[in-house]
Amino acid sequence: MISETLREARRYEEVAEQYIQKSDKPAFHLAARVGWMNDPNGFSYYKGQYHLFYQYYPYKAKWGPMHWAHAVSDDLLHWTHLPCALAPDSLADHDGCFSGSAVELPDGRQLLVYTGVVNLGNRMGEGENIIQHQCLAVGDGIDYEKYEGNPVLEHKDVPEGCSKEDFRDPKAWREKDGTYRCVVSVRPPDGSGMILLYSSEDGFHWKFESILAENRDRFGKMWECPDFFELDGKYVLLTSPQDMLPEGFEYHNGNGTLCLIGSFDEETKKFREEYNQSIDYGIDFYASQTLVAPDGRRIMIGWMQNWDTTAIIRNKALWFGQMTIPREISIKNNRLYQWPIREIESLRQNKVEYHDVLVNGELRLDGVQGRQVDLTVTVRPADGEDLYNKFAVWFAEDDMYHTSLSFHPSDSIMKIDRKFSGSRRAVIHQRRSKVNHNNGRITFRMILDRYSAEIFVNNGEHTITATIYTDLAADGIKFISDSNVIIDVEKYDLLTE
Ligand code: FRU
Repeated sequence: MISETLREARRYEEVAEQYIQKSDKPAFHLAARVGWMNDPNGFSYYKGQYHLFYQYYPYKAKWGPMHWAHAVSDDLLHWTHLPCALAPDSLADHDGCFSGSAVELPDGRQLLVYTGVVNLGNRMGEGENIIQHQCLAVGDGIDYEKYEGNPVLEHKDVPEGCSKEDFRDPKAWREKDGTYRCVVSVRPPDGSGMILLYSSEDGFHWKFESILAENRDRFGKMWECPDFFELDGKYVLLTSPQDMLPEGFEYHNGNGTLCLIGSFDEETKKFREEYNQSIDYGIDFYASQTLVAPDGRRIMIGWMQNWDTTAIIRNKALWFGQMTIPREISIKNNRLYQWPIREIESLRQNKVEYHDVLVNGELRLDGVQGRQVDLTVTVRPADGEDLYNKFAVWFAEDDMYHTSLSFHPSDSIMKIDRKFSGSRRAVIHQRRSKVNHNNGRITFRMILDRYSAEIFVNNGEHTITATIYTDLAADGIKFISDSNVIIDVEKYDLLTE
């Protein structure tokens, strides 16, 4: 049975969508169908297709009572929206269906595991009194029915003293033996973050296993959107901390991302941390989630946005929010590596290649421009020359606008700067991070898709992601150096039709 709330959302999105031009959206990144998008949810491979749900408020390009939108794809690049999957229409999720995940049941149905939000204050007319608990919905890939036993994990299932209000974002998976596990974030008494591990025989009845990991006030406060998996012989915990303080060039203020690499003790069910890093070093990346593709690749996608800059909406658009390019991830040298899914190579057209080109001053290269671009640049000092001071690429560029990626080898700093991208708001426009290089030799790959830039440095050792707001007419790319630098360039257009 479909509720009136869901039916209305489904009707609304079909009508409103007609007023959005396809060319106004990214070409191969999933963007909000209409209205608002945040976190990726239920990222899964089901019935022969990739499914991606997301946090969704169809009625405004602003956060509101959360629904789950739903899209499917064969290649993670061409997406088709299906009808809205979940609406806040039951007692257990009256005030929002927050983030969660999807697993397949043995009988072929898909199980959505999500956070139901109830504001008891709303119901009693007494201000805020919020409860978050974990809920289920079961479906066939289009329609989902809320489980009558909701919620399946609630305040009594968290360690003593933990918040009833901040308990959310279940990421469930199926173990090899057919049982299920799930990680959920909670706010412990110290006010920071904690990740809890639960298990289930059937996906419906869940039991507390352990405190998998604790923040202890080190990396921000509450940890949101956890994901936990084995990768290349290590265990990886991904999470998105709120309220970070900066730490060198590794972590920045606000909502950040955290990748912890370590091991897992099956006896105590505890994660042992060995290494920590940011997942992404740009401006817009949050709430990542992963799946395992049929061929075994672990693929990660994130919300390509920053909670503190959600006020920037281009041209009063009827939609807001886009996902990152799905990224194949791996662990090398105790670091998280990310690389655009190889399917993107099927979009490549119009190859342009240059070798050993001298840059001193400004340089444009024939055929190197565009806003749907896959560009790889290798930079090195000219033979016999000292280390150069600065090398930069300006893109989405014309007389008025540009966004720049610049690199200073002397202090190993790479900087993304979108100050001149067309934004008219006083929000963060630049971010710096430290990258590895070999005496000024460095390679980076840049994926541009109309309103975003994703940069993969040193074969994916380091990524920098940012949205931009520039009119599509600004499609120039130029290279800038203040001393003799040699570059190799490989460039493709990325075309979806
Ligand atoms: C993260 C988050 C989640 C929550 C969702 C609500 O961006 O705050 O913790 O489930 O967004 O939309």
